[in-house]
Amino acid sequence: MNSRDTAALLEWYYKEKRDLPWRNTSDPYAIWLSEVILQQTRVDQGMAYYHKLLGQYPAVNDLASAPIDEVLSLWQGLGYYSRGRNLHATAKKIQELGNFPSTYTSLLELKGIGPYTAAAIASFAFNERVAVLDGNVFRVITRFLASDLPIDKGPTRKTFQLLLNEWIPKHAPADFNQATMELGATVCTPKNPKCSECPLAPNCAAFSEGTFLNFPVKASKTKVEPLFLYYAAIETPSGYMVKKRPEMGVWAGLYDFPFVESKVELNEEEVILEFQKRFPSTQNATWKKESFYTHVLSHRKISAQFFSCLCRNMSEEFSSTKTSEELLNTGISALLMKYVKEIHI
Ligand code: ADE
Ligand code: SF4
Repeated sequence: MNSRDTAALLEWYYKEKRDLPWRNTSDPYAIWLSEVILQQTRVDQGMAYYHKLLGQYPAVNDLASAPIDEVLSLWQGLGYYSRGRNLHATAKKIQELGNFPSTYTSLLELKGIGPYTAAAIASFAFNERVAVLDGNVFRVITRFLASDLPIDKGPTRKTFQLLLNEWIPKHAPADFNQATMELGATVCTPKNPKCSECPLAPNCAAFSEGTFLNFPVKASKTKVEPLFLYYAAIETPSGYMVKKRPEMGVWAGLYDFPFVESKVELNEEEVILEFQKRFPSTQNATWKKESFYTHVLSHRKISAQFFSCLCRNMSEEFSSTKTSEELLNTGISALLMKYVKEIHI
């Protein structure tokens, strides 16, 4: 994310955010309580419990001093009683400490507070620059980067934690974290993301490739699935039109021809229509079917069909072009290399 993305995200958040009570406080105890409730409970359902528990126990010492049976009876209906028990036990520990731990590292030392909750409290209450990474945020970031790192593997969390920590603007850690979660909850939703309303769309890799449904990837679910790529070899007077791939994912940062991606096979006319829509200056040129290749990755079997088109009029659509000679000496995707080796005589 660059500074334009973070600024757009924050601007969106200030305009569109839901007014939720735990967003209007910097009390670490209230924030902690809200996060524990929301771990397994939807916002609309959790709200009543938040008010009820905070009303009964306005400060962490009130909770710590309450009999566990009373706490559990208030917890009734939220399920997962171990959460209620842990909450109470940790409140006692905090009472013993004499103050609420105020850094990510010290919060992590508390039993029952994991990386997500520690980051939420440290950033929302104490403005520490540490990113929250929950299911919503994983979805946003893997789509934004078109990253197929499996989110259920430990090293992946570390990678994204470091990236997001760098992206957090110094002046607004709390709002940035709320914003990434809010975006995942309301816009970048699992099934029908509202990309047209999304402040990150201009630089979102999955949006530009139309592949948001492929992310996030889970290792536990990995099976080799077919993927069909339809490549456009558009030759202009200055060379072939090329595009740099996103900085993460397959063939990260390498050059590639533009392509249409699909989980099912498409027919030739559909594909050419799509190319003509994307590149209007090819509308009067002839598209030709070229070579076909396959390529197997860890969880994808790619079938790639190339189409070529000679485009005599240069146009601003073609921001970047390279000759086949140049392509041979540039970092390009493995599939493109197969094609270039064939056409370069
Ligand atoms: N779900 C978990 N934490 C949340 C928060 N702080 N705001 C909204 N939804 C959430
Ligand atoms: Fe998610 Fe779409 Fe926004 Fe990308 S553009 S982050 S896929 S909602």
